[in-house]
Amino acid sequence: MLDKIWRIFSQDIAIDLGTANSEVYVRGRGIIIQEPSVVAVNQKTGQILAIGDEAKKMVGRTPAHIVATRPLRSGVISDFEVTEQMLRYFIEKAQRKKFIINSRPRVIVGIPCGVTEVEKKAVCDATKNAGAREVFLIEEPMAAAIGARLPVQEAGGNFIVDIGGGTTEVVVISLGGIVISKSLRVAGDKLNEDIIHFAQDEYKLLIGERTAEAIKIGIGSAYPLKEKRELPMRGRNLVTGLPEEILVSDEDIRKAMEKSIKQIVTEIKTAVEETPPELLADVMTSGIQMAGGGALLRGLDILIQKETKIPTKIIEDPMTAMVRGAGMVLENLDQLHEVLVETEYLEPPK
Ligand SMILES: Nc1ncnc2c1ncn2[C@@H]1O[C@H](COP(=O)(O)OP(=O)(O)OP(=O)(O)O)[C@@H](O)[C@H]1O
Ligand SMILES: [Mg+2]
Repeated sequence: MLDKIWRIFSQDIAIDLGTANSEVYVRGRGIIIQEPSVVAVNQKTGQILAIGDEAKKMVGRTPAHIVATRPLRSGVISDFEVTEQMLRYFIEKAQRKKFIINSRPRVIVGIPCGVTEVEKKAVCDATKNAGAREVFLIEEPMAAAIGARLPVQEAGGNFIVDIGGGTTEVVVISLGGIVISKSLRVAGDKLNEDIIHFAQDEYKLLIGERTAEAIKIGIGSAYPLKEKRELPMRGRNLVTGLPEEILVSDEDIRKAMEKSIKQIVTEIKTAVEETPPELLADVMTSGIQMAGGGALLRGLDILIQKETKIPTKIIEDPMTAMVRGAGMVLENLDQLHEVLVETEYLEPPK
């Protein structure tokens, strides 16, 4: 009864706390926040200066005492206090000041597969401290599959590859559970690093993370393109110390990222090899489904399809699939509670 009253006043929230980006979904309203997981902190006072888009603009441009940090690494909290602050900001922003009584919301948070109990507890504690009444956890690829409206609760194989900023997760889902799960700490961020190293090794050019990402998104590819693409790469020459601009091609960038992309493809192939034959037969028809921002890298779907011989497609709007799926679980907790992560720290959903 009390819970019913709570429900009228509280706005339940789903959060994708990503290494690169965070998304927030509010029940009945949809996605209301989509911002980088960056927080700018004044180290002298410990004060938070900016969160999200505003903080990302500061990356690499701050005076010494202001640091723009990313509180998550490989999808796991690396800076507890800053993560808590970021969650508080999200939860407060999601609360509509419509009611005089503003109750604390129930919050569902995505976590990578295979995180430890300690890491799960850290997410729960940070979310509770940030103002949640109740916390549920869901594995990110499971949520992405639900967001893509895959039949996760049926007895069939659903093969998902989620390529985020910090991790690539490969899972096979059947009957509401994860049958195979692989996690690799090579994803979008590593590709940016590859481009930074390439600029240094090839041209003695020092470029920042943002420039590297812009080049990757602008002309990066995993498979040869039909038309050649080029972009100027701006940085500082390490020998002369002066600014310099060098024209790079899609082929240069493909070569720079080649090793990491191979690691991702190998991980997917290993998961295919480990998939039980009956489920693999389903996957042959349903295909490999790609989620996460990394899925948008040009030609990656073609490369995966070629290497695995399994049809590969990108989920519609792959970057928000996870939070949309978690939101759907929130709207249908009765039918979907079995997909939530069980942990000793949480009560089972009512
Ligand atoms: N068009 C694009 N082409 C290539 N990469 C892209 C594109 N758009 C976004 N990305 C990359 O996707 C990554 C972010 O994806 P996403 O938001 O799914 O990650 P995340 O959920 O924050 O990370 P994680 O799941 O690892 O915690 C970044 O590395 C970004 O550079
Ligand atoms: Mg993610």
